[in-house]
Amino acid sequence: MTELRDFVSDREVEALFRPTARAEGLPARAFGAEFYRLEQERLFPRAWCAVGVASRIPEAGDAMPVDLAGWPLMLVRQRDGSVAAFHNVCRHRGMRLLSEPCRGRSTLRCPWHSWTYDLAGRLVATPDLGGDRVKTAEGFDNAELGLKGVRLAQWHDYLFVNIDGKAPAFADYIRPFDEFVAGYDLSVMRHAGHWEGAYPSNWKIAVEGAIEDYHLPWGHPELMQGVAVRNGRVDVGEDCFAAISGRFEYPAGQGPKIARLMAAMPRMPMTPPAEPDRYFIINLFPVGLIALRADTVMLGLMTPDGHDRTRLVFDHYFVGEAATDPAHAQHRQEMMDNLRFVAEQDIPFNKGVQSNLATRDRLDFPTRFSPYWEGAIHHFQKLVVETLRGDARQKAKRPAAKRSAAKTPAEGARRRAAALGAKRAPAHRRVRAKKPAKRR
Ligand code: FES
Ligand SMILES: [Fe+2]
Repeated sequence: MTELRDFVSDREVEALFRPTARAEGLPARAFGAEFYRLEQERLFPRAWCAVGVASRIPEAGDAMPVDLAGWPLMLVRQRDGSVAAFHNVCRHRGMRLLSEPCRGRSTLRCPWHSWTYDLAGRLVATPDLGGDRVKTAEGFDNAELGLKGVRLAQWHDYLFVNIDGKAPAFADYIRPFDEFVAGYDLSVMRHAGHWEGAYPSNWKIAVEGAIEDYHLPWGHPELMQGVAVRNGRVDVGEDCFAAISGRFEYPAGQGPKIARLMAAMPRMPMTPPAEPDRYFIINLFPVGLIALRADTVMLGLMTPDGHDRTRLVFDHYFVGEAATDPAHAQHRQEMMDNLRFVAEQDIPFNKGVQSNLATRDRLDFPTRFSPYWEGAIHHFQKLVVETLRGDARQKAKRPAAKRSAAKTPAEGARRRAAALGAKRAPAHRRVRAKKPAKRR
């Protein structure tokens, strides 16, 4: 079995963990096929990974297959309203049980030899197992042959799995992000639709392209029409998320179409420190991608489809009835189309970086980060390394005793930070808050 150090030398790790302005990015080897195999074994099973949204399986017996970096899984709505996750592998001879989403089933039947499981994954039928019309056979105990379950958690509509079952508690993973968005009343958001796409690049190249707004003036000039001030910012949460955000300011009466669309939509209730006019793009490590604005939320996935391709699944939400009201149908569609347009504008950049990977390694060519705009990418790359080293797991073990004595989450965070010898107290921190960048 390969290790992180087979791909990334100690010197390269040291260079990555320097302050952003002097740091060097992960070498191109970390974006190739062999490194992806390492991630399949050591990164995706260890982490809490977003894999889908609950609104897509609303009723008991609804189920959908999902793939997490080559791990075939299925999400199944239970009779009690909860969602369960299973490995999408039949206990007979390993056939993929579910190949398409389905609705309202009472059981899940394998198409090959018809072994049948109930919604909780118990094996309930094995027709002809012991001969023609003989349902049982010596040596078979159905109780031992249920589907293999996967640890699952839900945050608003997002569903997360932890394949190896050993990640720290989900509440601990999500806490920095939960605190970060505490000013937004996300409970009013309703599902409106989804779309899927793909990037011809490694999943990390896809995520990195999404969490920097450095390239907006050149990659997405339409977004910048009439923008007087960009006011960019980076926020990160340990072991959890990396966010960019901006607050565009336009001269009166100017601004792109998207700004006018936004003005017509209802906004979610907000309390400080939420900022009504700031948009956020957030990587919920490793594959979650959230777009957050006062009027709309997108819960997305950037999941590897092999080492050199990334699957995009973007689910969109609006405030209350604005998610379904025909009066807002055109606004909703234009907003989703706009995000899709922007995502597709990034295809050539993803392709261009992917196609240069081999050359970069031949030239031993380190990449660099803008300290102003690219702190989120830097944090993301460090989380890749830390997850492969198993750092989060070690940290979770050490301060456990102190955590139980904390009276509030904030106090818990302070104590954890103190126990780790870290300097920062809150669970998330602002990497940069400089004067707004004036545009000419
Ligand atoms: S592999 Fe599923 S029933 Fe045979
Ligand atoms: Fe982009």
